[in-house]
Parts: sequence; C-alpha cells; structure tokens
Amino acid sequence: MKAKGSRQSTGTPRVIAIDGPAAAGKSTVGREIGIQLGYPFLDTGAIYRAMTWTALHRGVDLSDEDALSELAASLSIDVGPPTPESIEPSTIFVDGQDVTRFLRQPEVEAAVSLVSRVAGVRNALVKLQRDLAGRNAVVMAGRDIGTVVLANADLKLYLDASVEERARRRFAELSALGMDLTEEDVLRDLRRRDRIDSERSVSPLRPAEDAVVLDTDGLTLEKVVQRLMEIVEGSA
Ligand code: DC
Repeated sequence: MKAKGSRQSTGTPRVIAIDGPAAAGKSTVGREIGIQLGYPFLDTGAIYRAMTWTALHRGVDLSDEDALSELAASLSIDVGPPTPESIEPSTIFVDGQDVTRFLRQPEVEAAVSLVSRVAGVRNALVKLQRDLAGRNAVVMAGRDIGTVVLANADLKLYLDASVEERARRRFAELSALGMDLTEEDVLRDLRRRDRIDSERSVSPLRPAEDAVVLDTDGLTLEKVVQRLMEIVEGSA
C-alpha cells in the first residue's frame, strides 16, 4: 500500500473528492465515508451513465458530438437517496424518470467512455455536478473531481489498483447481479475504458497534484475505508 500527497487544510475536510480508474472501489468506499461523516455521497459516473442510457434510448447517433452535447444540456438530471432494493448509492432521475436500473446495462458500459469524452457533454454535466454539490459538505467520486469539478476540494483522494485486481472485483459484482460474462470480458473492457478515460483531450483521468494517492491492490474495501478515514481525520 502506498499513500502519497498532502492534506490541504486543517480540521475535518467538508468537500472530499475521490478520483480513480473504473472499478477502483470509489463508489463503495465513497458511500461508506459519506455515511461515517454524515455527508451526502455523489457518484458522478452514474450521471455520465444516465446521460449515455438516455442517448441510446432516444436513438441519438453516438458519433454526433453536437447532438450529444445538445442532449446533455437539455436534460434535467436529479439525484435522490437509494431505494432499499438497489445496490447503487443513489437513485438517478432523468426528466423525472428513475433510470437507476439501466445504468449497468452492457450497452451503457460499452458506450459511456465514448460519450464522456465529448467536451459539450462534460461542460453540461460538470455544471450539473457543481450545482448538486452546492456549498455543502459532500463526498464526490469520479475521474476529474479533484482536477476540474471541485478543484478547491478540502481533500483529494485518488484510488488506484492494478487492472487485474479491478477486473476481479468488478467481475464478482457483476456476476452477483446475474450478468453473464467472464472475467476476461471484464478485463478487456476495463483496459479499453482506462485507455479512453486517460487519453481523452478534455479532463483526462489523472491524480490532482495535491491528491493523496492510495494503491489498493491486496487491500479489502474495509481496509481501504479505514485507511482513508485515517487520512480524513488527519491521523495519517
Ligand atoms: O465510475 P464509472 O465506471 O461509473 O464511470 C463511467 C464512465 O463515466 C467512465 O468510463 C468515464 C465517465 N466519467 C467521467 O468521464 N468523469 C467522471 N467524473 C465520472 C465518470
């Protein structure tokens, strides 16, 4: 386990950014930290997934950047607390419709990185994420939270893990949901998404200069939460 970087302010941080590649555990860990601190947790990946599902559902041509940007700017996306039966940390509404159960569909999984690299889509969704955060205490997870969305966050965390470890974790999650795929499929998809997320020209995935980087290979999610809470409480 490696942790590097430094805290930006003294006292318990109120605005906490968590970035990292797909399936690094940001959502599970972020939700738990939010519960422990009494802060809302916002998984911004779910917002990009909701946008992607809507584009697919409405038959928008995914190579048409103007159409995608227009759609993103026109959508009303809301985030509410999770329903008891859902494994997602929040309920996501698009124009009033609960779309949460569609967000992990393979079609969304395959298209979300492509939709997310469009500048107009990011402009609209970054604004929405800032509005959702307001000036309140929040834990927000994604790819560009510490670098762009909440560049003034009190604490920036970057969760990393090898692609093989992330594939094992994501495969276990998706199999538990009854999805019919192999660990090889998951590994291939994560490699593809890592490449698109980190090579895109707008807000590529990378740790903020002042982020605390935690390599979670070989750690249970409980251990990761424990370690991050020590960092949050300033004892690390
Ligand atoms: O965290 P996730 O796997 O649910 O994210 C899905 C996709 O959304 C990811 O491949 C890239 C995009 N994303 C992004 O570009 N910026 C964010 N802040 C969060 C997610």
